[in-house]
Amino acid sequence: MSSTADLTIRQARILLPEGDLQVGDVLIQKGKISRIAPEIVGTETDVEVDARGLTLFPGVIDPQVHFREPGLEHKEDLFTASCACAKGGVTSFLEMPNTRPLTINQAAMDDKLSRAAQKCLVNYGFFIGATADNLSDLLSVNPTCGIKIFMGSSHGALLVSEEEVLEPIFANGSRLIAVHAEDQARIIQRRQQFKGITDPAIHSQIQDEQAALNATKLALKLSKKYQRRLHILHLSTGVEAELLRDDKPSWVTAEVTPQHLLLNTDAYAEIGTLAQMNPPLRSPENNTILWQALLDGVIDFIATDHAPHTLSEKAKGYPNSPSGMPGVETSLPLMLTQAVQGRCTIAQVSNWMSTAVAKAYCIPNKGAIAPGFDADLVLVDLDNYDIVRQEELQTKCGWSPFTGWKLTGFPQVTIVNGEIVYNRGKLNTEVRGKALTFDT
Ligand code: DOR
Repeated sequence: MSSTADLTIRQARILLPEGDLQVGDVLIQKGKISRIAPEIVGTETDVEVDARGLTLFPGVIDPQVHFREPGLEHKEDLFTASCACAKGGVTSFLEMPNTRPLTINQAAMDDKLSRAAQKCLVNYGFFIGATADNLSDLLSVNPTCGIKIFMGSSHGALLVSEEEVLEPIFANGSRLIAVHAEDQARIIQRRQQFKGITDPAIHSQIQDEQAALNATKLALKLSKKYQRRLHILHLSTGVEAELLRDDKPSWVTAEVTPQHLLLNTDAYAEIGTLAQMNPPLRSPENNTILWQALLDGVIDFIATDHAPHTLSEKAKGYPNSPSGMPGVETSLPLMLTQAVQGRCTIAQVSNWMSTAVAKAYCIPNKGAIAPGFDADLVLVDLDNYDIVRQEELQTKCGWSPFTGWKLTGFPQVTIVNGEIVYNRGKLNTEVRGKALTFDT
């Protein structure tokens, strides 16, 4: 394992918390940002990073990923996934409980934390998964960023779709509840209705907009009844966004994925089952409404829902192909390209991908470039475009729905707790992240 040397980043365009860019130096001591100034002189550090021409952002905090360990390591594991994070500028992640065994009790949480401590290049936190009968675990397991409820689109013990089973989870305790909002009963009924169709485009009709809206409405109803902190994961439809625009209590947050903003049902014709995910991609009109909701603050932040499956699993053909796509290596350049092309500002991207996430999950000392904050940082190149190349991907699944896309804002240097973990194409696999903490 490497040790943390003090470090100076020289002459970066620094994105300050107020959203301004300032060219200057950043001094990092003992893993924390200690000074920011136009020029820092008289302080010798062992490591110097020449950042001329590059823009410095707080590291991305990805609040929804599926990293497959333990149990599904043929798709991904905590080492390969965290390498992908480092390359993508993701310095912290919050990971979901649908591993094998499921993360539904303290023993499974402890196991994940110890695996992550051994293998993870970036910082990590884990959700505890809700089942029909683990309420006492949901109340006691520590540390965790929150409770994950699959209201639909899961199988086995993690599926909690009935109102009477959901109700005690909302009624007891106070920790954040994050919901995958799809109406399982409707999905099952529509699966029957469209049985035999093998065109993957049918996926968006089986798990339709109404299925998403029904579940989001139910989660909102229970959250309001108990004033319970609720986060709606990967919002996919305009109708849900409009519902939240009209009626979003202050204790409710929502996220959207880059793929629900930038891909739509046209993708099935181009990439087939690689476009299959839950909740599904929607029509182009939904892209537009989701973008507006993000710009207006109805949607609070961005998550990738990185959910890798192997190409051979995807090649099984619909409906035997699994749902999900990888995302941590492409999310920052995808969003920064939108900013450079005028759809939003780079400060908004940074807020949606770091600051707002740290705030929503109460992660202390992260999400800003300011003295005293952890030195989780990413230097990106906003002056050049490059292509997403399959052969350069670090994710074990080895593909991306964005292969071939021409993007700007690719990370050049990623720093985790003051240590350089990725430097212009090279990973430092000796670096280890830390377990995230969550303020109450
Ligand atoms: O498409 C998806 N795949 N959506 C999810 O929320 C989970 C997932 C998976 O774990 O494969």
